[in-house]
Amino acid sequence: MSDTHAAARPIDGKAFAQGLIDRVTAAVARMKAAHGIVPGLAVVIVGEDPASQVYVRNKGERTLAAGMRSDTHRLPESTTQAELLALIAELNADTGIHGILVQLPLPAAIDANAVLDAISPDKDVDGFHVVNAGRLAVGQPGLVPCTPLGSIMLLKDALGDLSGLHAVVVGRSNIVGKPMAQLLLAQNCTVTVAHSRSRDLPGLCRQADILVAAVGRPEMIRGDWIKPGATVIDVGINRVPSSDPVKAAEGRTRLVGDVAYAEAARVAGAITPVPGGVGPMTIACLLANTYVAACRTLGVAAEDLAPASAD
Ligand code: GUN
Repeated sequence: MSDTHAAARPIDGKAFAQGLIDRVTAAVARMKAAHGIVPGLAVVIVGEDPASQVYVRNKGERTLAAGMRSDTHRLPESTTQAELLALIAELNADTGIHGILVQLPLPAAIDANAVLDAISPDKDVDGFHVVNAGRLAVGQPGLVPCTPLGSIMLLKDALGDLSGLHAVVVGRSNIVGKPMAQLLLAQNCTVTVAHSRSRDLPGLCRQADILVAAVGRPEMIRGDWIKPGATVIDVGINRVPSSDPVKAAEGRTRLVGDVAYAEAARVAGAITPVPGGVGPMTIACLLANTYVAACRTLGVAAEDLAPASAD
């Protein structure tokens, strides 16, 4: 690595996400005009986690702004699993609701897997239901988790055909790492899934034409782990103390990814920044999934939401 290397092209996820939201908004308006149907998204939050409260408020506002119905169900921390399952059964049966999202994390007393698997797979806009994980694994149409879906859209936009490229996914979560690996396989990549127990993680990363970082460890992936010219997708959103010691002492924070951005940008060909990379794609894909779920329920063809320039 040298400081004279041309800087990587930043991948503008914020702009791409806005384009996707605009296409969803237009498709929703046409659906309303043609069929009199408004897609509906129900978001369920249990407890008072402040970060979750912010996410849920944001999801509600963005859903309404896209011309869809938004219902937010705020339940107390003391909610039992049976009460939550009863609400999900109601939402499954509600024909005005096409998407259901249960905000995670749930209180420790509730079995999150049991709750996620109680959501009708056809309304599972998070794509977390075991049936949707299975559909993705075998290549059947289903609902795909939003963050990996947004990441693959950014990759296709940046690189075009991904066939034959070696993709290394660092992280094996059900929410990001595993579905990301499936999506990359479906694009004909050669896929390596690495994780905290992998031997020689830097060496594995150095083989990657496409490096996807989804480990949740601030700036763990260093510049010298990156193959020159590689495309880097940083899924991490980590809050760390401000780099200014005075501000840090006041408790001020900043967001960083799982990749040491400044170092990586000197080596990579293209890289998603944090914030403004993958993050904005997650909510855009949630809106897209809600529209797609509504189309499938109604038996109408979903409009193609890919940008005009995509293949
Ligand atoms: N909590 C943090 N991110 C997510 C997400 O994408 N979906 C859900 N349901 N909960 C979350």
